[in-house]
Amino acid sequence: MSDAAASVRPVGVAVLGMGTVGTEVIRYMTEHSDELTARIGGPLALRGVAVRDLSRDRGLDTALLTADAESLVVRDDVDVVVELMGGIDVPRPLLLEALRRGKSVVTANKALLAEYTDELAEAADGSGADLYFEAAVAGAIPVIGPLRRSLAGDQIERVVGIVNGTTNYILSEMESTGADYAETLAEAGRLGYAEADPTADVEGYDAAAKAAILASIAFHTRVTAADVYREGISRITSDDIESARDMDCTIKLLAICEKVTRPEGGQAVSARVYPALLPLTHPLASVNGAYNAVVVEAEAAGRLMFYGQGAGGAPTASAVLGDLVAAARNKVLRGRAPGESTYAALPVAPMGEVSTRYHVRLRVADRQGVLAQVAAEFSTHGVSIAQVRQTEVEAPEGVEATEPPTAELTVLTHRASERALADTVAALADQEAVTAVTSVIRLEGVDNE
Ligand code: NAP
Ligand code: HSE
Repeated sequence: MSDAAASVRPVGVAVLGMGTVGTEVIRYMTEHSDELTARIGGPLALRGVAVRDLSRDRGLDTALLTADAESLVVRDDVDVVVELMGGIDVPRPLLLEALRRGKSVVTANKALLAEYTDELAEAADGSGADLYFEAAVAGAIPVIGPLRRSLAGDQIERVVGIVNGTTNYILSEMESTGADYAETLAEAGRLGYAEADPTADVEGYDAAAKAAILASIAFHTRVTAADVYREGISRITSDDIESARDMDCTIKLLAICEKVTRPEGGQAVSARVYPALLPLTHPLASVNGAYNAVVVEAEAAGRLMFYGQGAGGAPTASAVLGDLVAAARNKVLRGRAPGESTYAALPVAPMGEVSTRYHVRLRVADRQGVLAQVAAEFSTHGVSIAQVRQTEVEAPEGVEATEPPTAELTVLTHRASERALADTVAALADQEAVTAVTSVIRLEGVDNE
């Protein structure tokens, strides 16, 4: 460390939360303090750490621990607040107060950001403080920084990512073992990949919060979690996975953010999360296990891909520390991070306007004319069929075969709007010859229309 850096007034840091991520952030801050000082141009000083349970030994000077986060964030000697508590109701007023007082904030809290970035950014702008949140999307993977800075001069067209490790682990395991969803989820829980209550992950809420953050930055438009269309993976069956394999595809939970042209003209933002078929040749198809990846498509840069660990204490701490160094450097040099930018204020396209391709599986009576009736229903609603496959459905052992026998039809469509597809499916479900519409899965990542 240079003498000049050591003599600079320390940048006071308050850490809120010392769980999975907070523990690693504090460990690296302590272990690499000289390196961090050199990079910042002045030392960091840990002023306090807020936790709930003061009785637990955390290997830290107990004088630094407090259960009173409110008093910690307003201390005069705190310049940067690092929020790693999670939740919304507790951190929201703390971070607002910190920002209003000119303290910069670093947070990994996607749930909070997906709802309240606007008020946090307003408070930051009011006082000239920084709001950094690289760790909120895809853990260690730098994607917020590249979108905010490196690609600030380009036109982002699309951001597509696998941004939830738990669901990617479950889908990858279902594919490699042939096990069904419930069995794989239970195994993911035993191995510590899925939380005790896995709803936020498996129903797509976590990915939707991340999609809202990515879409807001990519398209300079305020997008909240409520604007994101969301479906989780809990309805994906081992039959869906097998059917995907037959088409040289895999199934991934995708967060898709893109600029779309509206039917009446003009542009809008579409942000959506759902499990989709991806051709095995697509770069995201080979992202397996708990890994995350984000593909950005921009007018001048073309396609960029970011890949790495999307969760875990140390990987997430890496992103937090990067933000902490940047926020602290700005305190030392009196600089400021790029602020929130929502000048484009594009409308959010309703899901009915979005168009993609679909893989539809149906159980039908296998008799003359049924295939023609099914095809006619697609045509009536303006959905063009690209491929149809029929397989006989064998009656389970000990069960008498139906008369006429049942067949499974697998229909792959060309690109169609969600509205047209939904109308088609509703009409098919009403047809006497259709026993069930077993599944509808979107097909993404295919250039061919
Ligand atoms: P965690 O392990 O549950 O830790 C939360 C910490 O916050 C604990 O130390 C807890 O105190 C403290 N805390 C909670 N409520 C508090 C309150 N009201 N007052 C004082 N302290 C309180 O959480 P985490 O996994 O580290 O996640 C932290 C944040 O990072 C979340 O926003 C999460 O979404 C985000 N994130 C996590 C990961 C990951 O892989 N874990 C990845 C990306 C982003 P006690 O220790 O006393 O219980
Ligand atoms: N629950 C999240 C996941 C953690 O499974 O990816 C990282 O945000």
